[in-house]
Amino acid sequence: MTKLTPVLSAHWDEKDSFTLEGYKRHGGYTASAKALKMEPDAIIQQVKDSGLRGRGGAGFPTGMKWGFIPQGDNKDHYLVVNADESEPGTCKDTPLLLANPHVLIEGMIIGSYAIRAKYAFIYIRGEVTHVVRRMQQAIEDAYKAGYLGKNIFGSGVDLELVLHVGAGAYICGEETALLDSLEGFRGQPRLRPPFPAIAGLYARPTVVNNVESIASVPSIISNGAEWFQSMGTEKSKGMTLYSLSGHVANPGQFEAPLGITLREILELAGGIRKGHQLKFWTPGGSSTPLFTVEHLDTPLDYEGVSAAGSMLGTKALQIFDETTCIVRAVLRWTEFYKHESCGKCTPCREGTWWLVQILKDLESGKGTEADLDKLIDLCDNIMGRSFCALADGAASPIVSSLKYFRSEYMDHLRNGGCPFDPHASTLFDKAGV
Ligand SMILES: Cc1cc2nc3c(=O)[nH]c(=O)nc-3n(C[C@H](O)[C@H](O)[C@H](O)COP(=O)(O)O)c2cc1C
Ligand code: SF4
Repeated sequence: MTKLTPVLSAHWDEKDSFTLEGYKRHGGYTASAKALKMEPDAIIQQVKDSGLRGRGGAGFPTGMKWGFIPQGDNKDHYLVVNADESEPGTCKDTPLLLANPHVLIEGMIIGSYAIRAKYAFIYIRGEVTHVVRRMQQAIEDAYKAGYLGKNIFGSGVDLELVLHVGAGAYICGEETALLDSLEGFRGQPRLRPPFPAIAGLYARPTVVNNVESIASVPSIISNGAEWFQSMGTEKSKGMTLYSLSGHVANPGQFEAPLGITLREILELAGGIRKGHQLKFWTPGGSSTPLFTVEHLDTPLDYEGVSAAGSMLGTKALQIFDETTCIVRAVLRWTEFYKHESCGKCTPCREGTWWLVQILKDLESGKGTEADLDKLIDLCDNIMGRSFCALADGAASPIVSSLKYFRSEYMDHLRNGGCPFDPHASTLFDKAGV
C-alpha cells in the first residue's frame, strides 16, 4: 500500500513541468482565475478552513496569519515568500521551485489578492543560481501571459512580483532578518512586537510565508478546504513534502499526508542502505532535537513529533546509520551555527563559539567528563535566552545527542580520540572488535 499523496510533486517527472504550458496542461492558473472572482475574505476563510499550517518550520496557521493584516488602513500591504532555505538537511523548496515555479506564482497571486497586496516579493537563496534563473523565466512568462502586472486576468487587480536574490546567510531565512535584508540592511532579526503583520517590509503590514505554504494554496482553492482536510491528522492537515537524505537506499522527496511515520517512508524508500542499521535521525532539519530507532513509529505531524520531544520543523529527515560518529555529526552542525550566528546577541555569538571549542576537544579525545556538563550548562544559557530561534536550534542537537548517546561521548574520552576514525587506534581495536 502506498501512502504517497502527490499534489505539489504530481508532475515533476514530466520534462516540461517547469514551463507555463506544462503547468497549464494540468489546470495551472485556473485557481487564480477562480480566486480573483471571490471576495478576498472568502479566500482567507477557505485557507483557514483547510487547516493549512506554515511549512517553513513553526507550523503557524496560514489563513490566520493572512487574517492579521489590517484592512481598510489605506496602507500598502506586502506578501513576501521565504525561499531562503538554508538549514542543513532542508531541501524541499529548491526542488519544488525547480520543477514547478508557476505553482508558487499562482499561490502568490491568490495570497496577494486575499491580503490586498499589490506588491509581492520572493527572497531566494543566492547560491541556487539555476533555480534563480528558472524562477526569473517563469515570472517573465507570467507577466507576458497577463497573470502579473496591471489588470491581471482582466480582473482590474494589479500585482507586481519582484525576485530578490539573497547573498547567502542562514539568518536571512528568519523572517524579520529577511525583511531587513530585503530593505537593503544587514540581515539581523528585529525586535517583536511590532510583528510583520502590523509593521513588516518598509514598516507596512506584511505576510511572510514559506514557499511550500504558498504553493499549497492553488490546490486548496481548486479542490476545496474539505479535500485538503481529508488528508493528514486531526490538527495537522493536508499533504506535505518530506525530504529524505543520508544513509538510505533511495533518498528524495516523498509527498505524503502529515502523520506518516519514518518507518513507512523508509519502506517507500527501500530502507536504510544495505547492510546497515538506523542510528539517529532528524525529524525536521538540524535545528530539531534528534530522534533514534525508538521513534520510528512517531507520527510525523506537529503534535506527534512535539509529544515525542522534538519538532516537525521543515520535515527534513536526515538519516544516519551506525557508521556515523554522533560527536562528529553534532560538531559539524555546531560549526555551521557558529558561522551563521549573526552576532546580534551575546548568548548566541559567544555561546556557539564555546560550544565548538568544547566539542572539538571532545571529538579529538582531549576533553574531560566535566565538559559534558559544561556543554549542557552552556546550552541552558543559550536556549530561551537568545534573541532569535537560531540559537535554540544550535543547542538542540547537542542536548538531544547527550540524552541518547552520552556513552559515545565517553568512548571518545576513554579512547583518546574518535572510535570511528579508521586511522586512529580505536576503542574497538583495543577491544579486538
Ligand atoms: C534561523 C532561522 C532560519 C529560517 N529559515 C527559513 C527558511 O529558509 N525558509 C522559511 O520558510 N522559513 C525559515 N524560517 C522561519 C521563518 O522565520 C518564518 O517562520 C517562516 O518563513 C514563516 O512561513 P510559514 O508561516 O509559511 O511557515 C527560519 C527561522 C529561523 C529562526
Ligand atoms: S540568536 Fe544568534 S542569530 Fe539570532 S539574533 Fe542572536 S546572535 Fe543573531
